[in-house]
Amino acid sequence: MLDIVYGRAYDLQEKDFIFGAGKMAEPEKSWEKRLAGEPDELTIDFVESLSVDRRLYKYDIVGSIAHAQMLSEQKLITKDEFKQIKEGLIEISEEIAEGRFKFEKKCEDIHMAIEAALIAKIGEAGKKLHTGRSRNDQVAADVRLWMRDEIEILQAKITLLQKAFVKLASKYAEDIMPGYTHLQRAQPIVVASYILSFVEQFERDFIRLKNCRELLNISPLGSGAVAGSTLPLDRKSTAKQLGFSDISYNSIDAVSDRDFCAEFIFDCAVIATHLSRLAEDWIIYSSSEFAFVRIDDAYCTSSSMMPQKRNPDILELIRAKTGRVYGSLVAMLTILKGQPSSYNRDMQEDKVHIFAAGSTVEACLDMTRAIVSHTKFNTKNILAGLEEGFLDATALAEYLVGKGVAFREAHGIVGSLVAYCEKDNRKLSELCLDEFKQHCGAVEADVYGNLGAASVADKYVTEGSAGPKQAKRQIAYWSEQLEQR
Ligand code: ARG
Repeated sequence: MLDIVYGRAYDLQEKDFIFGAGKMAEPEKSWEKRLAGEPDELTIDFVESLSVDRRLYKYDIVGSIAHAQMLSEQKLITKDEFKQIKEGLIEISEEIAEGRFKFEKKCEDIHMAIEAALIAKIGEAGKKLHTGRSRNDQVAADVRLWMRDEIEILQAKITLLQKAFVKLASKYAEDIMPGYTHLQRAQPIVVASYILSFVEQFERDFIRLKNCRELLNISPLGSGAVAGSTLPLDRKSTAKQLGFSDISYNSIDAVSDRDFCAEFIFDCAVIATHLSRLAEDWIIYSSSEFAFVRIDDAYCTSSSMMPQKRNPDILELIRAKTGRVYGSLVAMLTILKGQPSSYNRDMQEDKVHIFAAGSTVEACLDMTRAIVSHTKFNTKNILAGLEEGFLDATALAEYLVGKGVAFREAHGIVGSLVAYCEKDNRKLSELCLDEFKQHCGAVEADVYGNLGAASVADKYVTEGSAGPKQAKRQIAYWSEQLEQR
């Protein structure tokens, strides 16, 4: 019976693999004149990157137009040839955008596919486009152009997420919750401060991407295959036309540098890490044991078996997808580490990973923004359990410091007071003045103004503290900053 399902997958025979059966149709590829016979079908499938790099088509076309314009400025092609090339490329761009372009994997990659189509369209002039150029500098330029745009998209999505956090924070600028270290109750914090901690994280991600963009924004065009060209190419012209801030200054490095790809994926990996930590918090906070937040139904799923379940699957998937991005980072670094100097075909694999990292993080940023915009904090429930766990103990030690007790001494006194309270299941604020004085003579009646989670949060004075005063200032700061962006 199961054979019907399994088919013959376990029973493949040698004849199922047809070696040496590749049939190359026209157009003949000039760069294959050097090779005998036709490539194997298996080879064609294995070597092609068109299925992945077709995503670069726009960048390849603008890069080619800039290159052709430079060739005409340098009199390496005529003005009329440039006009034909430009118009042909624009038509191809429209055909691809409208889904009318026929991608043929025998063309190997997007660069060859577009060049072949151009030659088919305009003839002789098309054959001059690749003058003074190699796919090695071409692809290095295309990837940089793509990444500049992708960084802008990611930055826009980060900003939207930050705005969602600030909006959420402004609803909870007075509500106190436990702050945790080691997932144990530590000190009181205002809910807004907790939420704003993510705005800071994503701000660093934004800046990291900005730095990455700055470093990658140089033009490798004119570096050719590895050594540059004997033709009088004007590299600054193509760089300027394409909005690069400078040109690369070593042709060998220019065709082999993919540092920016590793850096871009690293930046994506840190974003994914931040999203994952938020997801982990809210998975915990939405459990019945905590019940601190309610994730909107739109972002939960139910169980196929247990009818009562409301599962935070979407957050779990955001947490899990981090693994893909880390995988891409390790893959990218591994692609680079063993290559001899200059271009090697290994480089072609870069695109799989930069595209995957960018797309995964884009989707996770969108999803997280939707969740953040619809999440509610159960402030009543948080308040009901707020005085558990001696959140005011540190502030009590600091109160004693104010009364002239050395901190290490005060730390010990409060430790004993906590142990004393725990025996009878009491809170520090429930002790009478005599009981305080038995532990430390410096305690006075004003101690009670320093106890209880809300009083403590109100008393924070240092810049960046997690109290309501500081949170309100931060909300104002971020609202203005993000508005200007
Ligand atoms: N598809 C190739 C890549 O992505 C383009 C460059 C090919 N260069 C070569 N010399 N075979 O890297």
